Amino acid sequence: MDFITSPPAIAEWTAQARSTGASIGFVPTMGALHEGHLDLVHRANAACDRVVCSIFVNPLQFNNPEDLRLYPRQLDKDVELLRAAGCNALFAPGKEAIFSEFTPRTYDLGGLDDHWEGPSRPGHFQGVVNVVERLFHYVRPDRAFFGEKDRQQLTILRHIAREQRWPEAIIPCATVRSEDGLALSSRNARLDPTERDQATILYKALAVTAKEAFRSTVEATRQAALAKIAEEPAVTVDYFGIADIDTLVPLADWGTRSTAVALIAAQVGPVRLIDNITLLR
Ligand code: PAF
Repeated sequence: MDFITSPPAIAEWTAQARSTGASIGFVPTMGALHEGHLDLVHRANAACDRVVCSIFVNPLQFNNPEDLRLYPRQLDKDVELLRAAGCNALFAPGKEAIFSEFTPRTYDLGGLDDHWEGPSRPGHFQGVVNVVERLFHYVRPDRAFFGEKDRQQLTILRHIAREQRWPEAIIPCATVRSEDGLALSSRNARLDPTERDQATILYKALAVTAKEAFRSTVEATRQAALAKIAEEPAVTVDYFGIADIDTLVPLADWGTRSTAVALIAAQVGPVRLIDNITLLR
């Protein structure tokens, strides 16, 4: 695996690969890799000739400086994990390399940030879109792989890719969970064993929602999920809601739709966790 820190060097690496007719799969990350990231690498490997992964802890998407400071960093371990997963190149630029000659712009997110993470994390999605655009600009992948765990991020990136006519295909990938249902997240590393156990209530609540959905009313389904979360008083809910799967607008009723999504964010010990589940009629 090649280790590359300079934007022109990764642009040259991918141009060289493309010149041989190879397709490029891209997995952008902020490091502290876990099985969820490695699953994205495996999917990229299965679909493309070469796999590029990036590790860049993007300051633009952290609205809380303490969260940025404490975000787990483990570059040496990540390099080993990526090597073993069959990644061909790791792009790990420093801040200066990304932000010199680049002024972030404001994108029209089409109202997709009006709910859920948007109000809780002002500027977060603008930061994500700006950095993903930069990474795509250098890597120029054919396909880029993103986890459904960050459902709103995925929805917003697909919207921007369509609106801005980005040539890259955005490939959604199912959330990877541990056996007890907890969605894998780099932030889980900051939970102690008791908190790690308490955190499973997020998935339990989503599972209740998936079972009740389309049988009871939206409000009754929501209440059933909230009652489940209340079984774990140490966990503080930031939001729990049921939304249209495309627009992410909260639902008052199911209407004629056959799918929807339930989204949750909650504070568990020192960490704010998010998760979501697709609801099927
Ligand atoms: O999902 C992430 O890890 C980040 O938001 C991303 C897409 C790498 C952009 O910094």
